[in-house]
Parts: sequence; structure tokens; C-alpha cells
Amino acid sequence: MAVTILAIESSCDDTSAAVIRDGYILSNLIAGQDIHVSYGGVVPELASRAHQANIVPVVDQALKKAEADPADINAVSFTQGPGLLGSLLVGTSFAKGFALARNIPLIEVNHLQAHVLVHFILAKDGKNRLPDFPFLCLLVSGGHTRLIVMKSHLEMEIIGNTIDDAAGEAFDKCGKLMDLPYPAGPMIDKLAAQGNKKAFVFAKPRVKHLDFSFSGLKTSFLYFLRDRLKEDQQFIEKNKADLCASLQETIVSILISKLVKASQMTGIREIGIAGGVSANSGLRNGLVREASRREWNLYIPPFSYTTDNAAMIGITGYYKYLRGEFASQDVAPQAS
Ligand code: KG4
Ligand code: ZN
Repeated sequence: MAVTILAIESSCDDTSAAVIRDGYILSNLIAGQDIHVSYGGVVPELASRAHQANIVPVVDQALKKAEADPADINAVSFTQGPGLLGSLLVGTSFAKGFALARNIPLIEVNHLQAHVLVHFILAKDGKNRLPDFPFLCLLVSGGHTRLIVMKSHLEMEIIGNTIDDAAGEAFDKCGKLMDLPYPAGPMIDKLAAQGNKKAFVFAKPRVKHLDFSFSGLKTSFLYFLRDRLKEDQQFIEKNKADLCASLQETIVSILISKLVKASQMTGIREIGIAGGVSANSGLRNGLVREASRREWNLYIPPFSYTTDNAAMIGITGYYKYLRGEFASQDVAPQAS
């Protein structure tokens, strides 16, 4: 019998619903929240209100697009955490209500594990190569920068972590200093394509083992701009593309050097990236070069599965369903 799962993601500022059948995505809808742009970051209170307004229409559209009836759904999976508590509560409560009403299993999903498991979603033609285990994945988003070893679909070990800001935060905070709209990562990526990545040099942190640090980069970027602006008020406007290219080059080289180190330390050559920053073209291109040099099997997710989405909650829910790992109705969201 086919297994059809309704998946809900509401950990931060995207309300998303997906329908997945036997590992194939039938629909994956995302309602973003523009309201945060004018604040330069996600406002938790506003995020949970927007989730509350969006959740029913988004689920409704996801079911329609998948041509699925609520009666076709075998289980509902949802993001339990980490994330913003008020945001998580909306998805959790909706999933509980849906499961209760349909008398179907409820499956709680860890958001980080889900980002990594996008690599196990089957493409429409079913011809994509899936990673072998152990699989080493660099998870880079607005909230996380982690090196994760997947030993099986549901067993993960974190072998590296950021000690302060996440890589996405570095993009966003430095972007804010250049007056770019939030989140600045995509815009920096775009502007970087027209700039010279060697124009400016920013110090890279020395962090032990497989850990990362990005707060120093943000501070040195701030001081650098402050000094240059004293000499020329138009410095940022005149050099925006070069600033973006140089900043991106610094962040990408920090990420790639730790990933190379992790591969050398673990001996793993099945390598992937996931999370919002995995959409970055500098990171993607740099890794393609590294993979051919080091004979890695490299897995880069489609753009639609990089930022927060419910398809990833669906694929994780699917593997938990196969193992019979269900949650009870008293399950609570976990912010961190
Ligand atoms: O995974 P995600 O949607 O949300 C979190 O779980 O944090 O990641 C959002 C982050 C933001 O920091 C955003 O600036 C960054 O991903 N991002 C990018 C790009 N696209 C999204 N950063 C650099 N280059 C991009 N193309
Ligand atoms: Zn995420």
C-alpha cells in the first residue's frame, strides 16, 4: 500500500505544507512572511500570528495540488524543533488536530535532520542518486552551521558546530551593514557575481577542531566599512559588488575548508550540503571544484529544498513512518 504523508513546517517565518507519497513529493507549498523585511529580521510574535493566518490555506492548497483528499493521508508529520516556540506551536497544534480528526499517526520531526534528509527525496523520474551511508553533510542556514554525519536515515552525529553566529547570519548581518534588505544572503550572492572576490581581504577565524565562528567576521566587516566611510561617504555604493564578492568568498572558504577537514578526519567521501545557505552559488561552485579534485560524490539539493520547506519534513516523516516511530498527542514543541 502506498504511504501518503502530509507534512507541516512552521519553525521560523515560512509556513509550508507538503504531500509526499512513497518518497516522491506531490506538492510543496511555502507561504513566506514579508512582514519581517521592514524590521530587518524575524519578529517572533509577528511570525506566529502569520503562521496562524496561513496554515489552513497552505495545507488546503498542498492537498489540492497533490490531488489528495484528507482521507488519502496515512500520517501527518510536523517540525517539533528547533525553532521559535510560538511558530512551532502553530504547526504542532495543527498537526495534532489533523491526526486526531483523521485518526492517523502523528510524527514529530527534527528540523536539522530534515534539512539533511532532502537528499533522500526521490526526483520525479526516480533517477537521482541517493547518498550512501555514512553521509557527511554541511548544514548551513540562518540559524545553524553544523557538520553532520548521517549513519542511517534517522541516526545523526554532529561533529562540528558554530560557537557563535551561523553562516546565514553572517550574510544577513553584513548585508544589513550595507543596507541590503533582509534576508541579505540571496542579494549578496547576486551582487557577488558582478564583483571581484579578491578586492578586499577579511580575516578568517581560527577555531579549533571542526567548529565554526562568524561573529568576528561581522565585527571586522563593520570596522572595515566604518574606516572606509570616513574617507568616502559613498564607499559602500561604489564598491557594493566587490564587497559582496569578497565577503562571500571569505564565508565560503571558511565553510569549505572545514568540510574538507571533516572529510579527511572521517574518511567520508559521500558529501552534501543543505539549508538556506546551500543555495549560494559561490559555495556550490567551490564544492563542485573540490569534489572533482578529491573524488567526492557530491550532493547539492535543488533550490526549492534549500530554504525551509515541508518536503523535508515529509521525507523524514516517511522514514519514521516506515520504522513505526510515532508521537503521542502530548508531544510538545522544542524551541532548542
Ligand atoms: O534554512 P533557512 O531558510 O532558514 C533557517 O533555518 O535558518 O535559511 C535562511 C538563510 C538566511 O540567512 C539567508 O540569507 C540564507 O539562508 N540564504 C542565502 C542564500 N539563500 C538563502 N545565503 C547565501 N546565498 C544565498 N543564495
Ligand atoms: Zn532551516
